[in-house]
Amino acid sequence: MTWTLQSQWFENESKTGGLTLTLIGKGSEHLSAKSRLAFTSITRIPPQTELDNAHFVARTANYHEIAPLEDLQAKEGDKESDKKGNLVWSLTIPTLSHQPNHYTDGPSCAYLIHENGEIEEVACKPLQPTQQARQEATKEAPIDPPLPDGPMLGLLPMPEVARIEEWHKEAPRGFFLSDASLCKQINDLIQRLFPTEERCFFDQPSERLLEVNLGYYEQEEEDEQPEDLSLLPDEDHQEETSFLLDFSHDHILITTNEGEACLYALIALAQMRQTALASDHFSFPASGMIIDSPRFSWRGMHLDVSRQVYETQDILDFLDILAWNRFNRLHLHLTDDEGWRLESKAYPRLNEIGAWRGHSLPLKPQHGSGPSRHGGFFRHDDILKIISHAKSLNIIVVPEIDIPGHCYAALMALPELLDPSALTGGASIQGYVNNALNPGLAATWRFLDTIFAEVADLFPSPWVHIGGDEVADQAWSGSGAAMSWAKAKGLLDADGKPDSASMQAVIMRHVETFLHKKGKIVIGWEEAANREGLSPTKSPIMAWMKAQNAIDLAQKGYQVILCPGEAYYLDMAQSHDWQEPGLSWAGTSSAEQTYQFEPKLDGLPEKQLLGIQGCIWSENLTSRQRFNHMVFPRLSAIAESAWSDAEKKNWQSFKLRMAFMPSMPEKAH
Ligand code: ACM
Repeated sequence: MTWTLQSQWFENESKTGGLTLTLIGKGSEHLSAKSRLAFTSITRIPPQTELDNAHFVARTANYHEIAPLEDLQAKEGDKESDKKGNLVWSLTIPTLSHQPNHYTDGPSCAYLIHENGEIEEVACKPLQPTQQARQEATKEAPIDPPLPDGPMLGLLPMPEVARIEEWHKEAPRGFFLSDASLCKQINDLIQRLFPTEERCFFDQPSERLLEVNLGYYEQEEEDEQPEDLSLLPDEDHQEETSFLLDFSHDHILITTNEGEACLYALIALAQMRQTALASDHFSFPASGMIIDSPRFSWRGMHLDVSRQVYETQDILDFLDILAWNRFNRLHLHLTDDEGWRLESKAYPRLNEIGAWRGHSLPLKPQHGSGPSRHGGFFRHDDILKIISHAKSLNIIVVPEIDIPGHCYAALMALPELLDPSALTGGASIQGYVNNALNPGLAATWRFLDTIFAEVADLFPSPWVHIGGDEVADQAWSGSGAAMSWAKAKGLLDADGKPDSASMQAVIMRHVETFLHKKGKIVIGWEEAANREGLSPTKSPIMAWMKAQNAIDLAQKGYQVILCPGEAYYLDMAQSHDWQEPGLSWAGTSSAEQTYQFEPKLDGLPEKQLLGIQGCIWSENLTSRQRFNHMVFPRLSAIAESAWSDAEKKNWQSFKLRMAFMPSMPEKAH
């Protein structure tokens, strides 16, 4: 017996249209009214929706259970049977949480729960669109400067200054670098990223090798102090990363002011050799110089490791790719409603319960996982391995524990964090109810201090991200404990309801003060700034909903990291094409649009722009293939904007260079 679920979006008088679901049981004649069809779908059934030919049973976020109205029996000629006598159950959902725009918005995983509790897998067909896929609106592409005449540098990101006088006719065979440990470091990195490539750095001289020597800039008197050092760790300022490559026919001199830039310089040599070997567009300099330094000090990439599960090895592989693109921050989104992925010594239930989803578990399956137990978490040893690997590649791992919203997994694991008499409060944008830590309970404050102490002790990062995003309006309105707390603090709104934003601001300030005492700088998503939650003079904010919001934040005095949904959210689809996977609430962004987005905004003073960051939200990244499709080459497009000035960017040249950039290995280790 095999079961298949087909889904079709249709238009009707509701704003979103509806879905027809058709379950077909090949070789199956009967389905009891006491059985249920479970499925996950990003487009959800809204509460109190009456279905046609089905009962709505339950829903947790994007996990749904529905049941037939009566026993179904396949009989020839009946609507419950197809021509082959297979059982067919067709039902309609007349309205949806939001309109689907891509095939990935529909059911992605389904199974039957039979009357006796037995589970049977159901194959899900991709959601079908209601009409011909809409064509991407043609946007005026900015006019690119044409490709330069003659040979090009196959470097990504593009350097600040390149004065090349002569070019080698052929790419060098390899480089002699007498520093054996550096030699090994760069060779190992290349080997991990491009396993089939031959070794190109050698610590012994040979006639056929170009000699590479290392020098250091003279230490200059520090005559100019940056205006405000308070937000940045000292070391960042001592390490103004920059390097100079001085080329002659048989020899290259690398001059840097510290070790970080030295690795970048070696990566640059390897990239130029690799591209010159492979393509006529590129050549290797024989005389002249390249001088380079990054445009922004924060060149970040975020990865959501909660909604899908990543192994430690995946993160190590990803760090290699980040280093090759000269990113210097990995922002790990470690916790969310869908799973708590960081070991806690103080609260082991976060890992025993909060890290696992499955049919018979407190956390139900969500997009990307099925009925069997699915999950995992990073132990402290794994994290130390990740941190150490990142450090060797000039990357700081910035942990995020997302509070007070997005905490469903933690709340399911730790009943002491729930108000036992709470009614249902407002739902989050992802459809979770009661998923915010409750400030009316003493246990919540203990939890916050304990968890953030663990995080501060484990991660050497000067920054800890505390989330603060998407707390539902009226998140706490069902909780008497939260109401009493808000009343005592004067945080009720004009209607006597608890004001969620003000309540969250108190939580933000508490954690900020706590982490300051631990020597950490706090970062939050933009809602963490609401009602003066995080302090404008102490805590940078990530502007994510749209780029314009960064200007308001800067006007309030915040340092800003720009990661706008419309350009830098790599979970957004790349076009309006139905067959492109991804979300589109912030619009869609092709690699070119991501590349052309310029993080220079009128009204956002440069000194308040700490840098930029791409965000990889994992909801839809249900396979390695999908991950690579959505992340690359947009990741490199962001890397170039993070490092190179606007006038150095050129889409035509990027298109040629991006072909050489690595993506994640096809198979997980
Ligand atoms: C976010 O995308 N909720 C920060």
